[in-house]
Amino acid sequence: MSTSQSAGQKTSARQPKQPIYSPEARVQIEHLISQTEPSEEELHPGSDVTRGLSQQPKTLPPRYFYDDRGSQLFEKICDLPEYYLTRTETEILQTCASEIADITGTCEIVELGSGSSTKTRLLLDAYQQAGHALCYRPIDISAGILESSAHSLLLDYPTLHIHGLVGTYELALQRLATSHLPTRMICFIGSTLGNLNPQECDEFLDQIKNALQPGEYFLLGIDLQKSKAQLEAAYNDSQGITAEFNLNMLRHLNQRFEGTFDLTRFEHFAFYNESDHQIEMHLQSLDAQTVQLKALGLTVELSQGESILSEISRKFSLTTLQQDLEKKGLKSRQVWTDANQWFGLILCQLPLI
Ligand code: TRP
Repeated sequence: MSTSQSAGQKTSARQPKQPIYSPEARVQIEHLISQTEPSEEELHPGSDVTRGLSQQPKTLPPRYFYDDRGSQLFEKICDLPEYYLTRTETEILQTCASEIADITGTCEIVELGSGSSTKTRLLLDAYQQAGHALCYRPIDISAGILESSAHSLLLDYPTLHIHGLVGTYELALQRLATSHLPTRMICFIGSTLGNLNPQECDEFLDQIKNALQPGEYFLLGIDLQKSKAQLEAAYNDSQGITAEFNLNMLRHLNQRFEGTFDLTRFEHFAFYNESDHQIEMHLQSLDAQTVQLKALGLTVELSQGESILSEISRKFSLTTLQQDLEKKGLKSRQVWTDANQWFGLILCQLPLI
């Protein structure tokens, strides 16, 4: 890397003021998992599946949605006419990204669950336009997604430096080194907070608070409470992609654990639980059946109409959530929403003491 750089400088007519580094010289990806003691999951793969399916009511861990096919289907969901979430959050970010950059000033952008980083580009554009140094720290459980999205960002942003972390949010938040830039902003967008139950949400916000230094920021994107009809349409699209996405989890489990789930004997079933303000996604058994997961030594009996909960997606009230954040010591600096108040972005700050 340094050889090609000095060769470039010798031959170039004008000396650039700042060295231009190659994309490879601007990226570093650290794998957090291998440095720690093996987790329960590494020691006993699928133990979470066994636990969920042995419970009453039965559940499955949402992380099994995301094999390659699941990730592709999820990208398709984001483009569906009924699935307003991604579109609305993007629209809000388009208008508020420059305000965010003004409030924080130069900062390291940390992103939890970075995925394909499409929305991140709106933030990077705003910081670039404001003349701030660009430093991005994506965190994702999938090394593949992290590497491919880092690669394309480096090509498009010639001054961007990326230090990615592969691992769980919990581990990454514990290990988050302080930045050499004046401040940091941890971003958690896409309403992923809604996929945590209230207790997990509480623990997660504690981890965020502990990871921040006084004066640092937390940017949170959340889906807001709205009519049952609109919410149910978003999770029961007319093209059946969400149904395919939900059922794909069973196919994934078949592959991974020598399972015998027959996808034609299950149905996608999503509804809005109004008292808990959450969408619940279920896989409902169409008849009484026995399923095996041979690699786990597991036999599951399902009765006709019995359902397996695969995901919750909570819907928030901006004011209640702001109060919860304040209770955690996360002061909200600014809130943005769309004209319909469908989706919200909250920029919080850990106050300077
Ligand atoms: N957090 C988003 C949501 O709750 C994305 C998501 C997670 C999702 N799992 C899903 C979307 C299942 C559709 C179906 O909407």
